[in-house]
Amino acid sequence: MPSFADGNKDGIGDFKGLTEKLDYFTHLGIDGLWLTPFYTSPKVDNGYDISDYYAIDPDYGTMAEFEFFIEQAHKRGIKVIADLVLNHTSSEHKWFKESISDPHHPKRDWYIWRDPVEGNPPNNWESFFGGSAWEFNEESGQYYYHAFAKEQVDINWANKEAKHAMFEVMAFWLNKGIDGFRLDVINFLKVNDTFKNNPVDENNQQTHLYDKDQAGILELIEEISSFVHQFPDKVIVGEVGSEEIDVLSTYSGKNKLDIVFNFNLGSIPTFHVDTIFKQLRKMEDVHHEDQLPTLFFSSHDMPRHISRFGDEGIEEERAKLLATLMLTAKGVPFLYYGDEIGMRDLVHHDISLMKDIQGVTAYDLAIAAGKSKEEALVMANEKSRDKSRSPMQWDNSEYSGFSTVKPWIAFPEIREGINVKEQLNQFDSVLSYYKKLLELRRMHPALHHGEYELLEKNGDMIYFIKSAKGERMMVLINFGEIEVPFPSEAHSVTDILLANKRKNVDGTIQPGEAFILYLEGDKA
Ligand code: NOJ
Repeated sequence: MPSFADGNKDGIGDFKGLTEKLDYFTHLGIDGLWLTPFYTSPKVDNGYDISDYYAIDPDYGTMAEFEFFIEQAHKRGIKVIADLVLNHTSSEHKWFKESISDPHHPKRDWYIWRDPVEGNPPNNWESFFGGSAWEFNEESGQYYYHAFAKEQVDINWANKEAKHAMFEVMAFWLNKGIDGFRLDVINFLKVNDTFKNNPVDENNQQTHLYDKDQAGILELIEEISSFVHQFPDKVIVGEVGSEEIDVLSTYSGKNKLDIVFNFNLGSIPTFHVDTIFKQLRKMEDVHHEDQLPTLFFSSHDMPRHISRFGDEGIEEERAKLLATLMLTAKGVPFLYYGDEIGMRDLVHHDISLMKDIQGVTAYDLAIAAGKSKEEALVMANEKSRDKSRSPMQWDNSEYSGFSTVKPWIAFPEIREGINVKEQLNQFDSVLSYYKKLLELRRMHPALHHGEYELLEKNGDMIYFIKSAKGERMMVLINFGEIEVPFPSEAHSVTDILLANKRKNVDGTIQPGEAFILYLEGDKA
């Protein structure tokens, strides 16, 4: 939200800017937008700390500007889903202010309060940003629970009134015309009520056994789902932080979340074609009929994949190959702004410029552990999510056309040629490649929602055949450095819909090549 386009020229992205850029999405062929939280927030964690669920944060505009944006998006056939944080509120929220004010306040139980155990926090649970997940409140002598920053206080979903208040929030935004939600850390809503310690391994790494995926969570999700789906044509995307795809798949499907992110594919730290293929395969094996895989490699929480995966010199080539995979494989693709022009990571050389709480916390913990400032900065950059949060690069002016004043966050060092204006008219730019892929995906049901007839890997080439409505398509993507023979299944090629390098096919697929091929006739 804060980094896409600055309409009122104060250095922060807003609804005015977003509205002005809607034609860009149409031009590109995007039909849905997910916005990070835009509600009033002290922004300790980029807006994932909401202090008023019923108001637009003044940095992003007014309610009227939000409504105009929704109206204009819908006019262009673009759906909008809102990121909603049900797990925790800001510590500045009036509910929490009431809860902390007095142990006997009716809202005390809206949050999770516990007594100390022998002068220590109630258990060993760690915050996902580092340090204890418990914050001591001197006045009452109790601790409150926060799975993330201490300014993001977990709601007690076992409390019926708190739960009801959150359902009212959902109804408010659905009535405003949004097309659904991306629900933040939705598998965290329940914690184990025995409050047992989480297991810790010999490297001091904690397994989050008792603070997520707890009994009752699926029933709660079913309740949320049936509530949201009373409103016609709404979609719920869930963020479920879990390593196990079998666990992930229990969260989606009929009466549950419509779509669940698979981070096992999306957030792999380094490029590995075997891992990517394994995950594509696994999603196919594990998912039931009413579940769809998700396809993404970047988000506001991880480094951009072009910086993460792009071996030097082949960054753009790899970005195009991954775009081919995301937009043709089976599943719902989520593209992250700026990836379509190949924007690079923002790395800080000065800790005072770092905005992300996860990075800053890592710095503070490193200093507290006796590391030097230089070492702490390296550790902070490793954790920092600022990497992918820099302003959208629209042109090659000083502030990249994002704003006319200095933006709230810095730009990456590598910026030259990486902007919309320059790439729009270059036929071989990353942007033109995305546009072409999106167009093909829109035109061909087999690419858009086809089923796999085949999903294979040969060397470093992933290839598959998908079919729908009598169409059969074959996609071949060679991620490696060695040529791969043309698969025998491609004997019935009738047309080449996309070829990123050579325009004809012969006996081999060269390194870095991608083809989308039309195959003859109905399913063999
Ligand atoms: C997941 C969000 O994507 C992330 O940005 C945020 O820090 C945490 N949830 C906490 O809300």
